[in-house]
Amino acid sequence: MPVPPNERRPDHPLDSQFIDRWSPRAFSPAPVPRDVLNTLFEAARWAPSCFNEQPWLFLVATEKDDLVRFGDLLSTGNQVWATRAPVLAFLFARRVFSHTGRPNRTFMFDCGAAWMSLALQACKLGLFAHAMAGFKREELYGELGVSPDDYEAICAIAIGSYGDVALLPPDVAAREKPNDRRPISSFVVYGRMGQDAGTEAADSAS
Ligand SMILES: Cc1cc2nc3c(=O)[nH]c(=O)nc-3n(C[C@H](O)[C@H](O)[C@H](O)COP(=O)(O)O)c2cc1C
Repeated sequence: MPVPPNERRPDHPLDSQFIDRWSPRAFSPAPVPRDVLNTLFEAARWAPSCFNEQPWLFLVATEKDDLVRFGDLLSTGNQVWATRAPVLAFLFARRVFSHTGRPNRTFMFDCGAAWMSLALQACKLGLFAHAMAGFKREELYGELGVSPDDYEAICAIAIGSYGDVALLPPDVAAREKPNDRRPISSFVVYGRMGQDAGTEAADSAS
C-alpha cells in the first residue's frame, strides 16, 4: 500500500532517518517474520542504559490468540487501528538495578532509548512502529503476568508494514500523515534559563 508523502523538512542538516520515522495508524496485517523481529529487538538491545542495566522488557504478540489478548488491553481509541497490526508488544521498565537492588532513576529514559532504536531500525527495513500510552494499565499486569512491584508498564507498540488507509475510521484517516515539530530554539537553552541568548541568537552570532 502507498505510504502518504512525507512533507517533513528539517531546519538544519540531518540524517533522513530521523524524519523518515513516523507513527502511522494504517497497518497491514501481513506478518513480520521472526528474523526481522529479531533484528528490531537487536536494535533495542544495543541501546545505552545507566550502568548498562538494560532495564527493558518487551512482551510480544504475533499469534492470533495473543494478538486478541494484547489488543483487548489497548484503549478503545487505539483498538480501532492498532488491532490490525501483525505484531503488538508491551514495553516494561525494570524499577531497580540488578546489582544493588536500589531504585534506577533512569529506567524509563533507558527504555525510551531502546524504543527509539527499535523504531528507527523498523523504518530502515520499510516497517513502522507506533508507540501507545493508551492501554488498560489496571488489567495489564495481571493479564500478562508481570509484577507491578518490579516493572513499570511504559507503552504498547504496534509493528508492521503500511496498510490501507481506507480501512481507518474517517477521523483517524484524516490525521494519517507525518506531523511537524517545534523549532530547536523552543527547547535548547545555552547557558542558563532566562538568558537572552537563545539558540537563534547563538546561531546567528556564529
Ligand atoms: C510514549 C508514547 C505514547 C504514545 N501514545 C499514543 C497513543 O496512545 N495513541 C496514538 O495513536 N499515538 C500515540 N503515540 C504517538 C505520538 O502521538 C507520536 O509519536 C507523536 O505525535 C509524534 O509523531 P510521529 O511519531 O509520527 O513522529 C505515542 C508516542 C509515544 C512515544
